Amino acid sequence: MQVHPVSFIHIQRSLSINTSILFWVSLTISMASYSSACSSYWVISGLALVLGAIVHQADARAFLVFGDSLVDSGNNNYLATTARADSYPYGIDYPTHQATGRFSNGLNIPDLISEQIGSESPLPYLSPELRGQKLLVGANFASAGIGILNDTGIQFLNIIRMHRQLEYFQQYQQRVGALIGAEKAKRLVNQSLILLTVGGNDFVNNYYLVPYSARSRQYDLPDYVKHLISEYKKILMRLYNLGARRVLVTGTGPLGCVPAELATRSTNGGCSAELQRAAALYNPQLESMIIDVNRKIGSDVFIAANTHQMHADFVSNPQAYGFTTSKIACCGQGPYNGLGLCTLLSNLCPNRELYAFWDPFHPSEKANKIIVQQIMTGSTRYMKPMNLSTIMALDSRT
Ligand SMILES: *[C@@H]1O[C@H](CO)[C@@H](O)[C@H](O)[C@H]1NC(C)=O
Ligand SMILES: *[C@@H]1O[C@H](CO)[C@@H](O)[C@H](O)[C@H]1NC(C)=O
Ligand SMILES: *[C@@H]1O[C@H](CO)[C@@H](O)[C@H](O)[C@H]1NC(C)=O
Repeated sequence: MQVHPVSFIHIQRSLSINTSILFWVSLTISMASYSSACSSYWVISGLALVLGAIVHQADARAFLVFGDSLVDSGNNNYLATTARADSYPYGIDYPTHQATGRFSNGLNIPDLISEQIGSESPLPYLSPELRGQKLLVGANFASAGIGILNDTGIQFLNIIRMHRQLEYFQQYQQRVGALIGAEKAKRLVNQSLILLTVGGNDFVNNYYLVPYSARSRQYDLPDYVKHLISEYKKILMRLYNLGARRVLVTGTGPLGCVPAELATRSTNGGCSAELQRAAALYNPQLESMIIDVNRKIGSDVFIAANTHQMHADFVSNPQAYGFTTSKIACCGQGPYNGLGLCTLLSNLCPNRELYAFWDPFHPSEKANKIIVQQIMTGSTRYMKPMNLSTIMALDSRT
């Protein structure tokens, strides 16, 4: 059985926005009292900075996250499931050095995107700390083990499947509405940034979970991919109808090249041909579906992030990205450290920066940083129709 290890840690990063506002206020006051000739100029520009900071804080867009273990920040900690990452060595490089439920040695992709957009990382939706003003930062609905299809990850029992994540999204909007009023809640969602990462488990933890799986007897691979894409399209439309207007949608990585597949399916040390075929069929169709949906809507609501290409870059040339290996997981056991879970008893590499994979399935924090850098500034080879820095510039003007 292939189990997605999951670990979660609450991110309590204080960005000290308030401190910086105080700093500018006191700077403005001291400039005003010490200078006489130029005082009005300094006061005005100082005030502009103060106001800029306050406006930025009030307007920092909410960040909402949906999907699987690649983006789960701790929801599964609250559930009866084996898909969890809430014990050491998960979180070994996290600021608190404790496991939070993130499937990473340190920060995960949502944390790093939050840093880039200048906000706190949104709390897991099931966290009791997600209340009051924290709701305005956003929320993370992701749950390790889930897929596009309801029957993906059934072996993990109690996880938050996609339709349930969307129900929680509705509930979230009601809770925000109760806090700031329905009109403002609507605007918060309208102006939010959304990240959606799902699909890998529909192969790894469904179609290819066991030989002769129910889905593989029902569909050949090309038809299964078509089915996934048509179900995925419904999810995107549902998000749109719930008010989503900027959604980053990631593809899958090179599924056949993760340490878990090298350990279980590779014959000669190369990537698993069958899973590579799946990724090669799925990712381009996802991208065309997204472009098609945008055309129907008449707006670039959905942004396709080509995480397949981003991963492929460092899988094919790890040294160019500062990794010594993209085949061996930092934490695990067996060939390529690709078998079983990452636990206290596993092999653990001393320097996580040198490994593209943290555990048999999940990228290291260092790899996550490379991915998020491409999401921010990548060319259209990686981000279609545009990268996140362009989105931020566009949205700040409206
Ligand atoms: C998945 O489950 C939900 C809730 O049980 C249901 O509403 C939905 O139709 C299901 N989707 C599919 C494709 O069967
Ligand atoms: C929601 O966003 C769209 C585009 O991003 C904008 O045209 C529209 O006016 C917004 N609606 C509200 C109610 O803010
Ligand atoms: C982001 O995307 C735009 C449009 O594709 C591109 O011109 C730009 O070079 C990219 N990088 C940055 C840093 O904006």
